[in-house]
Amino acid sequence: MENLENFKKAPETSSGGQSEISEKQDFLINNISYSQLRTFLTNSGEWQNNRLLGKYDNKVGVSGAVGTVLHTFVEQYLKFGGLEKAIEKAFSTIYNAENGLTYIVPISEIKNLENEIKTYKNNSEKVKNIKKSFDSGVANLFGVRAVDFGKTGSNEKLIKDVKTGVEAFLSENIDYGEVLEVEFAMETEVFEKLGGKTFVKSPVPFKAVTDEICRTTSTKTIMVDGAPEILDPGVLFLEDTKFKSSHSDMNAEDPKYIFQAFFNYYCVLNHFGEAPKYMIFREIKTSKNKDGSSQHQTITIPFFGKTFEEYKIYFWRYILESFERIKFIQERDFLFNIFDVYNGAQEWEKQKAYYLDVEVGQLKSRIAQTSKNRFSQNVPLMGDRDPLLKNAKNIGKDVEVEDLFSVENKIRNAFRNFGVLVNFEKKVEGYSFDQYLFSTARGITMGKVKMHLPEIIQALEVEKGIRIEAPVLGTKFIGVEIPREERRFAKLKKVTKSEKRPILPIGVGINGEIESIDLSDADSPHLIVAGQTGSGKSIFLESAIESLKDKGKLHLIDPKRVGLMNYKKIAESYDTLAQEVIVRLVYLLSEMNLVYDKLEEFGYKDIYEANQNLKGKNRFVSHFILIDELASITHDPDLGKEIMGQIGQLVNLGRAAGFHVILATQRPDIKVIPGNIKANISTRVCFSLATKVDSKVVIDEEGAEQLLGKGDMLFMNRGVKRLQGFYI
Ligand SMILES: Nc1ncnc2c1ncn2[C@@H]1O[C@H](COP(=O)(O)OP(=O)(O)OP(=O)(O)O)[C@@H](O)[C@H]1O
Ligand SMILES: [Mg+2]
Repeated sequence: MENLENFKKAPETSSGGQSEISEKQDFLINNISYSQLRTFLTNSGEWQNNRLLGKYDNKVGVSGAVGTVLHTFVEQYLKFGGLEKAIEKAFSTIYNAENGLTYIVPISEIKNLENEIKTYKNNSEKVKNIKKSFDSGVANLFGVRAVDFGKTGSNEKLIKDVKTGVEAFLSENIDYGEVLEVEFAMETEVFEKLGGKTFVKSPVPFKAVTDEICRTTSTKTIMVDGAPEILDPGVLFLEDTKFKSSHSDMNAEDPKYIFQAFFNYYCVLNHFGEAPKYMIFREIKTSKNKDGSSQHQTITIPFFGKTFEEYKIYFWRYILESFERIKFIQERDFLFNIFDVYNGAQEWEKQKAYYLDVEVGQLKSRIAQTSKNRFSQNVPLMGDRDPLLKNAKNIGKDVEVEDLFSVENKIRNAFRNFGVLVNFEKKVEGYSFDQYLFSTARGITMGKVKMHLPEIIQALEVEKGIRIEAPVLGTKFIGVEIPREERRFAKLKKVTKSEKRPILPIGVGINGEIESIDLSDADSPHLIVAGQTGSGKSIFLESAIESLKDKGKLHLIDPKRVGLMNYKKIAESYDTLAQEVIVRLVYLLSEMNLVYDKLEEFGYKDIYEANQNLKGKNRFVSHFILIDELASITHDPDLGKEIMGQIGQLVNLGRAAGFHVILATQRPDIKVIPGNIKANISTRVCFSLATKVDSKVVIDEEGAEQLLGKGDMLFMNRGVKRLQGFYI
């Protein structure tokens, strides 16, 4: 019980609700018994043979054969009572294949079988099958099994052992009470509530064959944990009988008994609608003790009490974890337990068959897969040390051996150093950067990833341009953006003239998608553009002019007299000085008020709704006010205050009247853009900025300090996205 603490917290498969319980999981198998579970865990190759391929070993050793025969004896004895009949039945098992009974034949007598089976002539199909099964050596037809006597065994010894086994069984007057069932096979889905709250369900139905299901008819004394316990009449209990040539060290805390008991417990509980109280494991030694002492040894597992509840947690935890492995192994190789290889030639033959019976093509892809998996698990392979990989190189070009120093491996190592296990998924090539997508290993939360981002970025030793999204918007991947050695730029594509709405393309995303905003949309009527010198603000304004020039009147405010000069001719107005700007804005605000008057008169919500009903000259016109370098016209405190007041009004009321403001500035701080204006413009284009703090001022998160200039931007509009701005 020493490790029980570790198992106390059972995994939760479902928190309640019947609907969740019925959720189906796909496993290779559709039920599981104790012995199958044991085979899976100790020898998955054998498990594959038995459970998936239906191949069983057709040979048993002498003690196995004796056990089978004695089980038949006990079954017959308890079912029908007559001792002689039972003995006869048991012995006939050795030679008779009848009613599907186990048919055990000593190997030395296989030749005699030819004569033997002549008696079954009337069923030629059956005879053929029996013969075939021996020929092929993979017999499981009609339960036919051959006894492998090895060097010392013989038919005489087998018969003698069965005789002493029967005597040993009878040497104790076992009080079975009322025997309800013998060798009873059950299969059932199992639900359990652990500790009264955690709901667990058997991944597939449990299966068990209980030797004896009994009810006490009078008081019965049993030994539990070394102390006698007296059972009243009417107690349901289970018996399991094992015949052995010598006693084993039986211990009630041995998980192998506990686990077997649990499979029996749940199956009986569900089939009888009543929980059994005890399971007694009885070991019967087939050879006599010299001092005449009992040949029986028992241990008892009680199905109640504190220890039982603890075992339950242990058991379920183990079952659920085992099924995680069964699920996992579906994509892998089933490995034989090589330490059992020399248990018999049979075993060795099986293993060879399994590993040699693979097509070369399959082998190639399997090796490729193996090497890929190794890399994704970050196991460095050192040239000659891994013959598998070396072979893989030789096999052919369809095997890709990844470069340990590839960007993706470097990234993965950087994450790993901070305890974040990630797997490379794919690389997407963008304009200014490539995006490397990673999935996280089980149990790694995005919170943990985020916690280490600054260190990880530093560890990657990329001078600039790196950014990590955890997760990438709308996915479960981590996106690592690494600057490209050769940048690509994005040329502006014309928005079609027939498009009436004021659509403004912003830039191109990593997957080549064009992000645009609709200025008539209530979510994005205005825009702030921020970025340090040379980052791309003026170019962005130029692309905006190109996109909007046919959609309304342009009012350009260009204090630096360079950026927008070229567009003077096509613009409705062009101003450079603060005083001019004030006059212009006074005019625009009065125009805006006129528009409001008209909208009110005709009962329209906004000009975009009105224009759907109006034609020609009656249509309302949009006004786009583009301001390059806001700070240059607002540094005079008085004029600045006046201008910011006017812009504030435009921003607050402009949209419905079709007045849209695009504000560009190098410095994004509160002195340049007052809080009330900033709060009303949630759509923002952020080019490269000097510091993380600046980045936070504009887009509420870090990252702009890593941007590469020349149109590399973070666009904020319901989330933040990295785009490449257009040039024209
Ligand atoms: N989208 C883009 N595609 C390609 N090159 C660009 C892009 N944007 C900017 N550039 C390059 O960067 C240079 C500087 O851009 P821009 O003049 O727009 O910077 P700015 O932010 O206005 O700087 P300042 O604050 O000094 O006016 C441009 O001359 C151009 O060469
Ligand atoms: Mg500029």
